[in-house]
Amino acid sequence: MASMSKRYYVTTPIYYVNSVPHVGHVLTMLCCDICKRFESMKGAETYFLTGTDENGLKVLEAAKDAGEDPQAFVDRISQTFKVAADELGIDYDVFFRTTSDRHREACQKLFGILKDKGYIYLDTYAGWYDVSAETFVKESEVVDGKSPDGNPVVRVEEENYFFKLSAFEKPLLEKIEFDPDWLLPAVRRNEVVSFIQQGLRDICISRSNPGWGIPVPGDESRVIYVWFDALINYIAATGWPDGDWESLWPADVHWMAKEIFTRFHATLWPAMLMAADLPLPKKVVAHGWFVFREGKMSKSKGNVIAPAELLSYYRDVAGVKDELAVDVVRYSLAKSLPYEGDTDYSRFEVAQMYNSDLVNDLGNALNRSLSMAHKFCDGIVPDAPVESEVLEAVAKAKADFESAMESLRLNAAVQAALDLVRFLNKYVDTRAPWALAKEGDPSLPAVVRSMLFAVRSAEGLFRPVIPATCDAISGQLGLSGLGDWALIGDESTLPVGTRLAEPVPMFPRLDKKIMEELKNDNSGAETAEVTPKVEKAAPKKEKPKFEPPAEIEFGDFMKVSLKIGRVIEAEPLEKSDKLMKLQVKIGDEQRQILAGIKKKYSAEDLIGRQVVVAANLKPAKLMGHESQGMLLAADDENGDAILLMPDSEAPEGSSVH
Ligand code: MSP
Repeated sequence: MASMSKRYYVTTPIYYVNSVPHVGHVLTMLCCDICKRFESMKGAETYFLTGTDENGLKVLEAAKDAGEDPQAFVDRISQTFKVAADELGIDYDVFFRTTSDRHREACQKLFGILKDKGYIYLDTYAGWYDVSAETFVKESEVVDGKSPDGNPVVRVEEENYFFKLSAFEKPLLEKIEFDPDWLLPAVRRNEVVSFIQQGLRDICISRSNPGWGIPVPGDESRVIYVWFDALINYIAATGWPDGDWESLWPADVHWMAKEIFTRFHATLWPAMLMAADLPLPKKVVAHGWFVFREGKMSKSKGNVIAPAELLSYYRDVAGVKDELAVDVVRYSLAKSLPYEGDTDYSRFEVAQMYNSDLVNDLGNALNRSLSMAHKFCDGIVPDAPVESEVLEAVAKAKADFESAMESLRLNAAVQAALDLVRFLNKYVDTRAPWALAKEGDPSLPAVVRSMLFAVRSAEGLFRPVIPATCDAISGQLGLSGLGDWALIGDESTLPVGTRLAEPVPMFPRLDKKIMEELKNDNSGAETAEVTPKVEKAAPKKEKPKFEPPAEIEFGDFMKVSLKIGRVIEAEPLEKSDKLMKLQVKIGDEQRQILAGIKKKYSAEDLIGRQVVVAANLKPAKLMGHESQGMLLAADDENGDAILLMPDSEAPEGSSVH
């Protein structure tokens, strides 16, 4: 068999199986998944590795604590990571485990090579070991019996093998200087440089054999240090040193979070490869952490969010269809990716993002475009050119997406796709197809085709991130998915005459009540000190009752001009506990309206929503701001407003009778 050409190879860290997965673990899997899907769309052959790190004391101790046989324990927990990946539609090619024979063989082989080359020697290690971080800790770093990470340490004094890491200071610094995009992002690269400049010491790479782990070849009394063993997984999974491992190695991207970047992936691992004369990975990238109240999300802090739990929330509470609920989680993870710093990730933030991006922006764009195509063009892609303004917006979004992917800023890539959808919603507002239809304007078919084309292109751009949603979108457009990256932005992707399906809403809005519940939700933050604030209900103010007359003339009713508008901006008025200042588009006119709806609606709830406006009321000043209209609303039991909105998307600016 001819050896295959080089495939795009992307990896997650392999996860410790001392506890079950949370959204932080899944985040890195998703990063790789997005990269893989993007590269496949560009035509590459791809290979995606994830798996579990199962040797080491930490895992052995967890098995003991669980009262289980270690192998049975790691089999069980490893499976939970696999399930988590599957549930989120993570399209890995291999789920690799370090208790496999393949891994043991590769590890022992590499150990032997480095020993033969003189990079491994025996010496006495006297110092400390932090089991929780699986790291050796210098005497000088131990404070009050704790490691710099704050973990307990145990005393170690044993004869062990050492790896000559110190020999690689210069080659590593040269590599970093010569290939500035090797380590990403730049903030992390700088940390690595100063870490290396402080001096690299040889590193202890074995421990006395506790009956668990990979024995040092030819020396059963010791096992290979778990980090030395774990890093080798990346090359072990390619089949090295046999077969066509070179069709995979070197990896194109190693993804991880920042805590295992500097010491392990950006120094120890490349030094091991250099020592063995093996090529280095092309890019090594670390994202920041999801933090959740009490610092980094971690099992021991009890502040974890399980991916499955979020998923079922969107399925069961929000009512998102099975196959699309996955994408709510995927979207929120990718959009919140902490590229440089750390970021909050909470159920409430996911919900806000859901309502604003998926419901308002994406859902609306699809819905409006299809509804209008049905209304004005008989549900068929009209024979008209795409307007240049839209072609340009698509080209820009595509270029922005690509340049974000170049530096692996996946959050910025998502933003580029979202920007296209936002552009589309604005385009619809300004080109106002309903007005063109009314005036018999000949540009109507081009505007409708342009709207559909923007949706089609957004479907292509979002595809690496939320593939199921993109399938749903292309289905509604009456087309198969846009899976070829090169074609995004090409008019041929939306053939004239294509029959469109009826619009089916994809993402039901989370209502105000649910949003309030989520905002106050503290579950999952067991260790956080939460003192629920109990506010006394304010005494209800009696509203002066307005009694309409029992009968009016039809002509009186007809005097009020009621119109469909769309909220495009919303901002709570700080000095008022009731008023929101809104910008409402009514057809091609824009009005500022002050509405007493702040108690029930936040700005995110409002932006993008259609409303009914009493449009010919004399302007009035409220708290110093002019209000040019009134929104129709019902009162709830407390006298707070419940906004009226059309039962389905209505042409903007249309009259209400
Ligand atoms: N077993 C080692 C890695 C060996 S790789 C040769 C390990 N495992 S781990 O289970 O602790 O996983 C750490 C990785 O999980 C992080 O580097 C990151 O990819 C992911 N994350 C775990 N918690 C996370 C957050 N709270 N936020 C972001 N990423 C998270 O280290």
